[in-house]
Amino acid sequence: MKKARRKGAVAGGNGSYTGEGRQPGPGGTIFGSVQVDLRESWWIGGVEIPTRLVLAPMAGVSVQAFRRQGRRYGAGLVCSEMVSCAGLEHRNERTLGYLRVGRDEHPLAIQIFGSDPGVMAEAARMVVAAGADIVDINFGCPVRKVTKTGAGATLLDDPSRACAIVDAVASAVDVPVSVKMRRGLEDGSRACLIVGPQLVAAGAATLTLHPRSARQMYTGVADHSLTAELVELVDVPVIASGDVTSRARAQSVLALTGASAVMVGRGAQGNPWALREIVDGDPEEPSREEVAAELILFVRETVRELGEHRAGGFLKKFYGWYLGRGRFPKPFKQEIVQLETTDEVVTRLFAAAPGAAEIVERLEAYLASPSDEPVMVIHMTCMGKPDRIIEVRGDNAADRR
Ligand SMILES: Cc1cc2nc3c(=O)[nH]c(=O)nc-3n(C[C@H](O)[C@H](O)[C@H](O)COP(=O)(O)O)c2cc1C
Repeated sequence: MKKARRKGAVAGGNGSYTGEGRQPGPGGTIFGSVQVDLRESWWIGGVEIPTRLVLAPMAGVSVQAFRRQGRRYGAGLVCSEMVSCAGLEHRNERTLGYLRVGRDEHPLAIQIFGSDPGVMAEAARMVVAAGADIVDINFGCPVRKVTKTGAGATLLDDPSRACAIVDAVASAVDVPVSVKMRRGLEDGSRACLIVGPQLVAAGAATLTLHPRSARQMYTGVADHSLTAELVELVDVPVIASGDVTSRARAQSVLALTGASAVMVGRGAQGNPWALREIVDGDPEEPSREEVAAELILFVRETVRELGEHRAGGFLKKFYGWYLGRGRFPKPFKQEIVQLETTDEVVTRLFAAAPGAAEIVERLEAYLASPSDEPVMVIHMTCMGKPDRIIEVRGDNAADRR
């Protein structure tokens, strides 16, 4: 297959401003007059991204409900959490479950991680068959479980392997390939500036930089002066990830770096309203009814996706994220976390905010149920294995010969 477009990726790319040039101030922070229109669309290869806000991939967070909600609240691009290419190779049922794609998620990137170019290429074919508009490659994960296999951020120390992976993936699929990386492994590292241009030459149509070191994990601050340097070095769009939680911060990062878009991660956890504030400048805090309604929808959708058993544990952290921030009293939050079933959670939320019922009804009528139809059917021969038909439905995953 042909390589993903490289140069075309620049269209609508880095640095489209309605004000003066970049204005870095002391410490690399700027709060100047430069304003970027976050509602402006831009392109990654042939894929149009309707806004300049990208919802971050987050393991243990970026379920379908999170992504669909992100799109509704203004994210121009959403991303799956990282999916193991080894898990896909072995048709691990849980891994295949990550390949559910809803009609209302597009444009969607599915992120894969691994260290073997051939296996990554095969995984890329599978995620495209599942409906991904973009294949994202993870060169940023700092977690030992991943790095000890030679994947994630470790690849920033092995540029030739990293390039071989990007080349293999870009040659395997017709959609654009993106790479998400950290600044490097160690504090102060500038590896991203050396590896980044090489990854573009190997076929990456866009780069996302989270400018912390792997060692830093999530401590300290994201040093977006590196993002600005990267933008200068490559002719593809760059996405700035790290510490963007408000419109003011998004504007300052875009102005400082000249990046095409900002990526928002932790700021959107239990808080889709932050996305609305960033994209549209709408600062209105949600009412209790709105919070309860979005949480109820999130719970129901996640139970459909993961099943009651997995969803029960998975959702606990979301209760804190949604109900905190002074939206509900602390004892109420504690009570919700203690409840045994998600049905009890929903009942209790409706009791606490009766007005939520009307909002939920409206939202559910508007949203297509993800379990209505099969969202992925793949017929393929993979890695020398016999032909398989793999079906992933909204509510279950099956792999059969
Ligand atoms: C819980 C959690 C899980 C994450 N999982 C992933 C992942 O699967 N893939 C990835 O590329 N980055 C992952 N990240 C990093 C985020 O995508 C993002 O780059 C980082 O959180 C910085 O952005 P923020 O300050 O907006 O959160 C994760 C971050 C968090 C907090």
